[in-house]
Amino acid sequence: MRDLSFSENNSAQRVSERLDRHADGPLQAFMPSFIDHLHALIRETRPSSADWRRAVEFLTEVGHASDGRRQEWVLLSDLLGVTALIEEINTQRPKGATPNTVRGPFYRADAPHLPLDANICLDGIGRPLTVTGRVQDLDGQPVSGASVETWQANGDGFYENQQPDQQPEFNLRGVFTTEADGGFRYRTVRPGGYAVPCDGPVGQMLGGLGFPLRRPAHLHFLIKKDGFETISTHVYDGADPDLARDALFGVKQELIGDFSPSEKGAGWALDFTFVMVRARKGRAS
Ligand code: BEZ
Ligand code: FE
Repeated sequence: MRDLSFSENNSAQRVSERLDRHADGPLQAFMPSFIDHLHALIRETRPSSADWRRAVEFLTEVGHASDGRRQEWVLLSDLLGVTALIEEINTQRPKGATPNTVRGPFYRADAPHLPLDANICLDGIGRPLTVTGRVQDLDGQPVSGASVETWQANGDGFYENQQPDQQPEFNLRGVFTTEADGGFRYRTVRPGGYAVPCDGPVGQMLGGLGFPLRRPAHLHFLIKKDGFETISTHVYDGADPDLARDALFGVKQELIGDFSPSEKGAGWALDFTFVMVRARKGRAS
């Protein structure tokens, strides 16, 4: 007679047996391992019923805090390093190519196309920064006609779409096109670092456990050119004291920029080279 008992030793197996291996649900590939690991976690940490109820209450609060404007579940995934791990697994690039990082919630798809040398700081507030850069391939050949889209926080660490009443529409956003030598240039202000949203259950819980909630200052770039994999990445301010404690684990050595005093007078200068990979079969471009 089959053992119908449900015990500490067979719990994961008993639950997994219920999965129809031929069913085609969205989490099909994920569930057997999820059940195994969840049961192993419980056996290892042995929470009381009250502890488990608190964990369920936390997950319920995360759900209630999420809506069309705020994604508390995504924040949980970000702060636990899961988003960065998924990115790492799925966007491996050859050595020397610019890595991808998460795009984040402050991107807007409708930023204006601007001529080179334009100033994307529309309110004139902040420490002037001139950005020069080039886009090239893995052989060092220029990628001309590439679209270089940028967005960033202001000096106080706020994006324009977080402060629609205080910053002009499209402040600190723009799309540029590289010249024949792959180069591009624009003017802006030096961004400030900022805290991820910490007023919800995720920030409160993980902040209370000592997790860093700040992001070091950075510029975002989305670079597109037919025939190449799209780059969606950050360039971090190498002088930011939070560089080693990015809340989202997004800092990589090759994405650290050197913001130096401008040779042309007041302000700062950043020069950065982006390296694109030719589109590969079976990879999203
Ligand atoms: C950002 O850098 O804009 C960002 C990315 C992911 C989560 C929160 C913010
Ligand atoms: Fe950002």
